[in-house]
Amino acid sequence: MKNRLMLISSVTQKLFMAITGAGFVLFLVFHGTMNLVSIISPSAYDAICVMLGANWYAVLASLLLAGLAGLHILIALILTVENFLARGFVRYKRKQRPRGVSWSSNNMFVLGLLILGGLALHLLNFWYKMQFAELMGAESANGMELIRDLFSHTGYSIVYLLWLVVLWLHLSHGVSSMLQSVGWNSESWKQRWRVIGTVVATLVVLLFVAVVIYYWLIYPAL
Ligand code: HEM
Repeated sequence: MKNRLMLISSVTQKLFMAITGAGFVLFLVFHGTMNLVSIISPSAYDAICVMLGANWYAVLASLLLAGLAGLHILIALILTVENFLARGFVRYKRKQRPRGVSWSSNNMFVLGLLILGGLALHLLNFWYKMQFAELMGAESANGMELIRDLFSHTGYSIVYLLWLVVLWLHLSHGVSSMLQSVGWNSESWKQRWRVIGTVVATLVVLLFVAVVIYYWLIYPAL
């Protein structure tokens, strides 16, 4: 195709996006479930945070996650530039979006950038004061205290909820697209993947929303 960068074939690109995306979904399921523990048993949550501090296996997992993120973003960037070069300045107008093409699927890159911006803020709020502090030889902040303090601020809770809406939009298309990349992509399967993608995204995001709402609205009233 004219103007295509062709660094790697588009099938390989999609497969890389699917594999790195799947890694993220697994991380989010783990991270969201771990955060839920903070509601059920704050002392158990503290114990998990200590276990996942600056220990070698936790640092290795963090590096692996950063590698996955880097690869996911790099390939997304290549795909976006290729699409732009192929399509030029002609972009779908609202009315021209073909049937079955969601708003999210046309805006995955922008949604990804918003997630990245939110992630930078999130890492500053938590990871920087915990694992990073410990790696630098300082004392790690207490995870439970950070959560209670952060979500007691209405502004922060709202920013987190907006971030989670963006994550939901990105995941609902991302998961169904990831499943299609693996193989079954007939029209009937596409429809099924769309439903499955929406269900998975909703369940994953609800794990996080529950924690924000709990520490913002319910915990202070208890
Ligand atoms: C209710 C919402 C959330 C809470 C309470 C929360 C809590 C935390 C805490 C306490 C840490 C630090 C763990 C440590 O350094 O030992 C952390 C790290 C992290 N969080 Fe979250 N998180 C939330 C939502 C999210 C979301 C939505 C994402 C992704 C989009 C995310 C991605 C990460 C990443 C990538 C790290 C660094 C993990 C690592 O050190 O390997 N978090 N989070």
